[in-house]
Amino acid sequence: MAGYRDIYQRWQHQPVAFWAEAAREIDWITPPRDVLAESDGLTRWFEGATCNTCWNALDRHVAAGHGDRLALIYDSAMTGKVKTFTYAELTEKVALFAGVLQRHGVGKGDRVVIYMPMVPQAVVAMLACARIGAIHSVVFGGFAAKELATRIDDATPKMIVSASCGLEPGRVIAYKPLLDKAIDLASHKPSACILFQRSELAAEMVEGRDFDWKAEMDQARAEDRKPDCVPVAATDPLYILYTSGTTGKPKGVVRDNGGHMVALKWSMKNIYDVDPGDVYWAASDVGWVVGHSYIVYGPLLHGCTSILFEGKPVGTPDAGTFWRVIADHKVKVLFTAPTAFRAIRKEDPQGNRLHDYDLSTLKALYLAGERADPDTIEWAEAMLKLPVIDHWWQTETGWAIAANPMGIEPLPVKYGSPTVAMPGYDVHVVDESGKQVEAGATGAIVIKLPLPPGCLPTLWHNDAGFREAYLQDYPGYYKTADAGYIDSDGYLYIMSRTDDIINVAGHRLSTGAMEEVLAAHPDVAECAVIGIADALKGQAPVGFLVLNAGVTRPLSEIEAEAVALIRDKIGPVAAFKKAMVVQRLPKTRSGKVLRGTMRKIADGQAWTSPATIEDPAVLDEISAVLSSAGLKRAVASKAE
Ligand code: COA
Ligand code: AMP
Repeated sequence: MAGYRDIYQRWQHQPVAFWAEAAREIDWITPPRDVLAESDGLTRWFEGATCNTCWNALDRHVAAGHGDRLALIYDSAMTGKVKTFTYAELTEKVALFAGVLQRHGVGKGDRVVIYMPMVPQAVVAMLACARIGAIHSVVFGGFAAKELATRIDDATPKMIVSASCGLEPGRVIAYKPLLDKAIDLASHKPSACILFQRSELAAEMVEGRDFDWKAEMDQARAEDRKPDCVPVAATDPLYILYTSGTTGKPKGVVRDNGGHMVALKWSMKNIYDVDPGDVYWAASDVGWVVGHSYIVYGPLLHGCTSILFEGKPVGTPDAGTFWRVIADHKVKVLFTAPTAFRAIRKEDPQGNRLHDYDLSTLKALYLAGERADPDTIEWAEAMLKLPVIDHWWQTETGWAIAANPMGIEPLPVKYGSPTVAMPGYDVHVVDESGKQVEAGATGAIVIKLPLPPGCLPTLWHNDAGFREAYLQDYPGYYKTADAGYIDSDGYLYIMSRTDDIINVAGHRLSTGAMEEVLAAHPDVAECAVIGIADALKGQAPVGFLVLNAGVTRPLSEIEAEAVALIRDKIGPVAAFKKAMVVQRLPKTRSGKVLRGTMRKIADGQAWTSPATIEDPAVLDEISAVLSSAGLKRAVASKAE
C-alpha cells in the first residue's frame, strides 16, 4: 500500500487527477465538467457538476440498504437523555423539516440562520437546508444578541430556526429573549422563526412570526410533505459560517457543496482511519467548524455513526463523562480540543475514572482547535495508551491542513507538531517579504494557491474582502495568519497567530472586536485587549482601559461594567473576566499600541522596549499593574 510520501507526491504531480479520483466516492447527479477552474484568483472545484449533500449524507445510505444503521446518537449529559436515530429515521425527519422550510417559502439559495443548542433538531435543520439547496448559517449559542444580529444582517436569512433554551451546568439559558433582541437590533427581518420548545423552558411565541417545531413537523407528517433532494451546483454554497476576523465584523466563510463533500469523505478514511459503520465522536458544538465538518457532514457522508454530545468534559456530572460516552456507544475515534483534556486532567490527574469504563473500542484521540501542548498530549497518551494525534486546521479550510494520516500510515509523532501537510496543501513558511525561510526558522505560514476542495471559495457576498484578508499579502498564496516553522523532516509547528485573534478554550475570538465594545463605554478614552496564557483555556482575554480625564467614579465599578459589557455584546463565550484601568497604554511613536510586548510581559517571556516606543516607562507601569493583579507569570525579564 502507498505510504504518505507517495500519496502526497501523487497529489503534487497530478492534483486534478488526485481530486477527480477522490470525487468518485460521491454520488453526482451531473458529473463535473472541470475538476478545477480558477478565475481572477478565486478557485471553483467540480464546476458543471450537480449534486446534493443531503443525498450523500443520508438517502444514499438508505438506498444502499443501510437504513437500519445508526446515523446519530444524541447523548445529553445535561438531561441524562440518550436518543438514537437510524439513517432511515434521520432521513425521514430531515425530509419532513425540509417540507416545513418549503411551506414557509424557503428555497434554493435562501439563507436560514440556525441558533440552537446541542440538540438533534439542530442537525435535522442543517441537513434539511442542504436537502432543498437552502444555505444554513449556524450561530453558536454562547454568542450574545448583538453578535447574532450582525450575522442576521450579513446573511439576510428568510428564516431563523431556534430553540427555547440551552443548558449550561447549573443554569438554563433562555435563547428566545436573545433571539428576539437580535431580530430587534438587526435591520434585516426574517419572515418566520421556527422554535423548538424544550421541556426545560417554554418560550413565548410572537404571533404570526414564530412557529412551533413540533406542530410544524406534525403537519408536514400529516400531509406527507417530504421533498426529495434538490439538485444544486457543486459550486453553490452549502453553508456560511461566521468566524472572528480582525474587526468587530465577523467573516462569513462560505462552504460549497461539491468540494466539501469530496474533501470530507477523503479525510474520514485517510486521516481518521474510520470505516462506514464505525462510531465517530467529535466533542465540539455544531456552532463551530469542527461541529459542521465532524459532527454532521464528515461522519454521515462516510456512513459512520456520529455522536451529538450535550455536556462538558467536567462537571456534567464529573471528569469521567467522556469515558462513559466512549464505553456506552463504542466510540472508535474521539476528536476534541486540548482544553477539554486539560480540564479532565485538572479534575482527575491520575485518570482514576478511566478504570470505571471499558474503552477497548477507542483507537485514537484527535486534537485540534488550538495548539496541543506537549504536556497535554503526553498525559493523554499515558492515560489512554493510544495514539494522540494533533492536527491543524481553520474554519476557512474546513478540514485538516496538517495531520498524521492514520488511514494512510501512522507517522512518528513529534510532540508539539500537528505532523505533516495533507495532500492538497502546499505549505510554506515565509518572511515579511514573502521569501521562503530555511527549515526550522519561524515565519508566516502560507499555502500555495489553489486551496484544495473543501476550503472556502470566498467570503459571503464579499470577494473583495476575501482577497484582502487572505490573498493580498502574499500573491499566489493563501495567508493562514498563523506563524510557525517546518522542520527538516517536513513536520509543521504552529506557534501563534499573526493577527489579533486569540484562542480561548478552542474558541477563536477577536481582541479587536472586544476593543470595539470597550471603547464604546462612556468613561473609556482608549483601550487594549490582549490574550494572556491560561493554564486551562490556553489563552484568556484581559482588557486595559485608559479613562477619560475627570472620571471620578470608583475604578472597580468601571472595570466591572467593562466585563459586563463584553458579556452582553459578544457573549459569555468570550470568557472576558478581567479589565484593568491603567494610566497610559504603551505605544510606538506612530501611535500603535504594543500589544505583543504587553503579552510577553504578562506571559513572563523576555521582552525588549521597541526602539520606536514613545515612552519606555509605560511598559514598566503595565508590568506593575499585571503583577498587582496577580496576572503576571513568573518574573518577566526585560532583555537588554
Ligand atoms: N450557550 C450559552 N452559554 C454558553 C454556551 C452556549 N452554547 N457555551 C458556553 N457558554 C458559556 C459558559 O456557560 C461559560 O459561562 P460562564 O462565564 O458564566 O461560566 C462561558 O460561556 C465560557 O464557556 P466555556 O468556554 O465552555 O468555558 P467553561 O468554563 O464553561 O468550560 C471547558 C471550560 C474547557 C470545559 C470548555 O471550554 C470545553 O469543554 N471546551 C471543549 C472545547 C471545545 O468544545 N472546543 C470547540 C472547538 S473544537
Ligand atoms: P478556528 O477557525 O476557530 O478553527 O481556529 C483556527 C485557528 O486555531 C488556527 O488558525 C490556529 O491559530 C488555531 N489552531 C487550530 N488547530 C490548531 C493546532 N492543531 N495547533 C495549533 N493551532 C491550532
